[in-house]
Order: sequence, then structure tokens, then C-alpha cells
Amino acid sequence: MTLSIVILAAGKGTRMNSQLPKVLQPLAGKPILQYVLDTSHSLQPNIISIVAGYKSEMLRELIKDKNISWRIQDAQLGTGHAVMHAIPDLKSDKTLILYGDVPLIKKADLQSLIKKSDTGLAVMTHIKNDANGYGRILREDYEIQGIIEDKDCNEEQKKIKEINTGILAADTKYLKQWLSRLTNDNAQKEYYLTDIVKFAVEDNITVSSHVVDEEVSISGVNSKSELAYIERGLQLNKAEELMNKGVTVLDPNRIDIRGQLKCGQDVTIDVGCIFEGNVNLGNNVHIKPYSFIKNSDIDESSTIEAFSHIDSSKVGSYCRVGPYARLRPGTILENEVHIGNYVEIKNSLVDQGTKINHLSYIGDSEIGKNVNIGAGTITCNYDGVDKHKTIIEDDVFVGSNTQIVAPLKVGKGATIGAGSTITKDVPKNDLTLSRAQQKTISGWAKPVKK
Ligand code: UD1
Ligand code: CA
Repeated sequence: MTLSIVILAAGKGTRMNSQLPKVLQPLAGKPILQYVLDTSHSLQPNIISIVAGYKSEMLRELIKDKNISWRIQDAQLGTGHAVMHAIPDLKSDKTLILYGDVPLIKKADLQSLIKKSDTGLAVMTHIKNDANGYGRILREDYEIQGIIEDKDCNEEQKKIKEINTGILAADTKYLKQWLSRLTNDNAQKEYYLTDIVKFAVEDNITVSSHVVDEEVSISGVNSKSELAYIERGLQLNKAEELMNKGVTVLDPNRIDIRGQLKCGQDVTIDVGCIFEGNVNLGNNVHIKPYSFIKNSDIDESSTIEAFSHIDSSKVGSYCRVGPYARLRPGTILENEVHIGNYVEIKNSLVDQGTKINHLSYIGDSEIGKNVNIGAGTITCNYDGVDKHKTIIEDDVFVGSNTQIVAPLKVGKGATIGAGSTITKDVPKNDLTLSRAQQKTISGWAKPVKK
């Protein structure tokens, strides 16, 4: 069996009230349409065609996927009219029609639907208490006879709770034949794809159905409020997955994963944390409340204290970072490093056992083992034009409120006196300081107001 997939994505999404077409609105950090594409690829079709219309240029630019046939529907005259645009791409045995704005559709449900379409046509349905706005499934003796759009329903039909999700699978040669018979003779003057059901019945083709229980998986995203509903549904599923693997998620309603989060054993994640891109947490890692972690690895038994911001960094084992720490791209902390509050580190290596506990900026630096960086230390890495490197060797003690004007090197075991501005290399072991010596002027008179 060969398969073609058509994704309908020409609609504007007026209710989004946005410059961004609705299928490009981000869901857990990824465009809605990308979810449909990823699921489509997993079914290994011969071709995927996307029917685009509203801002189609923008879609093609932002959805970078070479294996797509783009079909442009300039005027949106209905779902049937949209599918007609993809006819040149339909050469496989079967065709699956998906909506670009139904992101959480499940592979397993699509596989069942495709199997059921062995009869010639299968539609995906759902039982919904408030069916308002949806096409209703018309059955006689359980057999599907047709789909009637909400706007075309009479009072009796309005009461039907079985709705059309819009997703269907059909034998391609029948589908093409049915499409050629569509008219726009209805309340909305649109070419309804759903009319093919009526044609199938006329042709004595049994119309099968696959009824999906989980509402969120068949839900379309038409407004910001529906987007939020689907976002929460998706995030709850992700939290559930983590908990099934043994992660302690303190409140599954207050976690956001916008990418891939991999966790070892006995990981604890407190409330309000956001994970972006690829994040790996080792065994026994604790993430305290309201931390943001993006494209980073945190190794075994490390703790990220509250309100920390970590981006494209690597944290070794048994480290303690935060609260209120910021690790910017290119930060590598080896094992047992302590980074405290209001410390910013960028593009730097901090070796084992080193402590930078308060109010510091470390940029473009290499810091050795067991170094102690005093409160308020700043590596002055930027001269206004170029960035320069600071090297601090093992066992160095840097006194508080020191400025280190790069490029320079501080030798192993050196001590720098508090309040120094260091502009030249510092020799090993000795005490170096640059501040003026403290003196007291006795009998000094305070100025008086004239
Ligand atoms: C359609 C179904 C309805 C079903 C509902 C589920 C038809 C006639 N009706 O309703 O039975 O209950 O979906 O949400 O099929 N699109 C195009 N080009 C067009 C029209 C639509 O690409 O000319 C795309 C939209 O971007 C969207 C999808 O098709 O992704 C569905 O369109 P929408 O207008 O939301 O569906 P309805 O016609 O209201
Ligand atoms: Ca709709």
C-alpha cells in the first residue's frame, strides 16, 4: 500500500488576530503545522502536499522541509476545493487528508483510520457534548450516510453529538472521482470535502469510521484561547510521561517543555520551570522553582537553585548553581563547582571545586581548580572593540570587588587583594594588590557650609 498525505493549511485564522498565520503560531515552541508534518513523516508517505493560501510565502519560508509539494489555493472556496489543488500529487493507492491546524493528531489513530479505509473511505469522528459549529455524522442503522455541516443542519440534526473531525482517508482513485462531482450548492457556497461521503454511499462504498476519544488530539487551533488549551494538554502529557519515568514533577500544571527534556533517575523539578531545546538532566538532579534551562546538560546530583537562567551550557556533577544565577552560552562547569546569586558567566570554563558565590561577571575565561572568586569580581573582557581572555590558574584566591582587565593570566596559587584593578599578569603564589594603601589623616576638619 502506498500513501499520499494532503495537509490543508490555506485558511487565515481570523480569530487569532495575528500577523502570523495560525498554522505558524508556536505550540510548545514549535509551529503548529510542524507537528502535523512530523506525524505525517512518521507514516512514511510517498508524498506530502500542503495546500497553502494565506501568507503562503511565509509558510514556505518558515517551514523548511524539502520533501513537500506546495500547492497554492488563492481563493479559499472550501475544504473540497482545497483538496482539488493537490490532485496532481495524488498517485498513491490511498490518500490521507489532514488539517494543518490540528497539531496533536496521533499516529496510532491515523494508522487505524488508514486501515479502515480499505472499504474505500474512512472518516475520523469524535463524540462531543457541545457539537456546535461542527459537521455532524449522519447514520442509519449505524452505517454512515453522510456528513451535514452545522450551517446546513435542521433542528433534529443539530442534536447529533458525533462530529466530523475533518480528517479522512480514502482510496485515491475514488477520491479523485468524487472530487470531480463536488458542487457548492449549500448554505456557505463552498465546495465541501464532506460531500464525498454522500457520493461514496451513492456508489455503494461502505464508509468506515474511526472514533477518537481524546478530544485534545482532534482539536483544531482557531484562537489564542484554543491555543492555550492545546498547549496545556500537550504540556500535561509531557509531564505525565516524565512522571511515568520516575521524575518528581511537583506540579504537572506548572511545567513547560518546549523541546526534548531527558531525565535520569530521581530527578526533581519544582514549579514554574521552563525547558527549551534539548536539555539533559542526570540522576538526582534537582531543579528548584522558576528556572529557565535551554539546550544544556546538567550532570548527576547537581542542584539548580530558584530563578536561575541557563543557556547552552554544561554543568558537571555535584554542582550548585543559583539562586539567581545566569549561565550564558559556552559556559562549562566541571564537577563540584558552586555558582551563587547574581553571578553571570559567559563562554568560560570553570574547573572542579571552584566557587564563584556572589555578584560576579566572568566572561571569556578559563578558571582552574579550587579557585575562590570573591564577591563583585569582574573580568573586563571587552575593550570596546575586541573581546579578550582571562586565565586564572588553580588555587587562586581573588579578593572581593576586583576588576581583572583582560587579556591576562593569574598564576597558580596567587592571592589578589580585595578592591584591586589588575591590568598585568599576576605571578604565582604571592599576594598582588593594586589599591592605594589605607591612610588616616588625623585632625582632618569636615568642610563647613559657607
Ligand atoms: C470542517 C468540516 C466540518 C468539520 C470541521 C472540523 C467541511 C466542509 N467541513 O469545517 O465537517 O466538523 O472542519 O473542524 O470540510 N481550508 C483550506 N482551504 C479552504 C477551506 C479550509 O485550506 O478553502 C483548511 C483550513 O485552513 C483548515 C481546514 O481546512 O485547516 C478546515 O477548515 P475550517 O474552515 O476550519 O473548517 P470548516 O469548513 O468550518
Ligand atoms: Ca473550523
